[in-house]
Amino acid sequence: MSLDRSRLRALLAEEERRFASSHPRSRELHERARRSLLGGVPMHWMTRWAGGFPVFADHAEGAFLTDVDGHRYLDLCLGDTGAMAGHAPPATVAAVETQARRGLTFMLPTEDSLWVGEELARRFGLPVWQFALTATDANGFAIRLARHITGRRFVLVFNWCYHGTVDESFATLRDGRTVARAGNVGPPVDPAVTTKVVEFNDPAVLETALAPGDVACVLAEPALTNVGIVLPDPGFHQALRHLTRRTGTLLVIDETHTISAGPGGYTGAYGLEPDMLTVGKAVAGGVPGAAYGFTASVAERIASATEADCIDTGGIGGTLAANARAAAAMRATLQSVLTEESFRRTIPLAERFTAGVAGAIAEHGLPWTVQRLGCRAEYWFRPVPPRNGAAAAMSTDAELERYMHLAALNRGILLTPFHNMALIAPTVTESDVDRHTEVFRESVAAL
Ligand SMILES: Cc1ncc(COP(=O)(O)O)c(C=O)c1O
Repeated sequence: MSLDRSRLRALLAEEERRFASSHPRSRELHERARRSLLGGVPMHWMTRWAGGFPVFADHAEGAFLTDVDGHRYLDLCLGDTGAMAGHAPPATVAAVETQARRGLTFMLPTEDSLWVGEELARRFGLPVWQFALTATDANGFAIRLARHITGRRFVLVFNWCYHGTVDESFATLRDGRTVARAGNVGPPVDPAVTTKVVEFNDPAVLETALAPGDVACVLAEPALTNVGIVLPDPGFHQALRHLTRRTGTLLVIDETHTISAGPGGYTGAYGLEPDMLTVGKAVAGGVPGAAYGFTASVAERIASATEADCIDTGGIGGTLAANARAAAAMRATLQSVLTEESFRRTIPLAERFTAGVAGAIAEHGLPWTVQRLGCRAEYWFRPVPPRNGAAAAMSTDAELERYMHLAALNRGILLTPFHNMALIAPTVTESDVDRHTEVFRESVAAL
């Protein structure tokens, strides 16, 4: 089926009209916000929502969000993973309330942080942990430490990766060369000085890039999730581990999104053996909190290479990192919310989601497909899932995405504004998932 672009544009214009007229309060607030906030939003990603202005949130609970115009949405965006465990999970809220009354931040550890370190060790198999406020920080600190203990300059990332606002990772491949990623704002140095980029799922190019022995670490999501879901080929992780070990390169696995695969993320589910692991967003149930862990041998190398006298000026820190509220929120979230039981619910629901979407794609003979990683799913405007970042990036279609997202939003479903990602919160029901299938089917039927 080839897409009728003029029909798509007409449908999109109709959805935009419908959105504007049914969200007067959000529109009014956005107009007011234009005077005090850059672009009318407190954080510029929020301009990416499909309607021309974002809906302003009023409140949310579990899998549902209500906006200031009184519309109630099934939320499959879940704060782009920050609220993957559902909004306002009662155990996390209770822990945060209690901790708020007992003091929020001390520059001293609380017992909760110890519990969290032990639990992360149990889940991910790495014995030693540190906390940060965001996954970006966790990745940045892991990179610094990797450079410090290996004495090597380069970081290797996969093409079209995303690891937060980490300078070294804002690079892509052009004609086989590392260049600044399009839109890279004020890069401090040419990324080619700091970074090697190779395609995911290609052990041969990885081998060549690591061969000179000048790469401190590979920073990798175990499956790409930020250019749509790109799963590793069978054997790719074995090759990655083998080649990094052989060349003395540290392997840093970023589980911030792939924690969707289960309580121990992809690492736990598939038995990966990283040297370091980073995780953020969902681990504190929506409260800022992140963590990075090490093997015993990496921890030992860090300890013997760090001078105690300048530890607070070494470029790794954050006054509010490991604050008491974040530790309490992480403990409650890991103990009672992002549990094995919750994944036993959400993963089958995500399977139901992908089956529903796949059914609608087949019914309409669309050259599209759908991919899943645990409780995270994503549909693609291409017939087979891509195997690497370049192929994934080439198959995005901004206009079509915008239409699908806005049609869903106008029918009470929020999808992540970046690509076509859906996350399933523990309180979602089968009929909620079926509602998405119905809306998806309606939207493609109209095309
Ligand atoms: C895989 C991955 N790592 C790290 C980050 C950075 O998270 P944050 O923006 O919370 O620092 C993101 C954000 O999308 C991510 O997808």
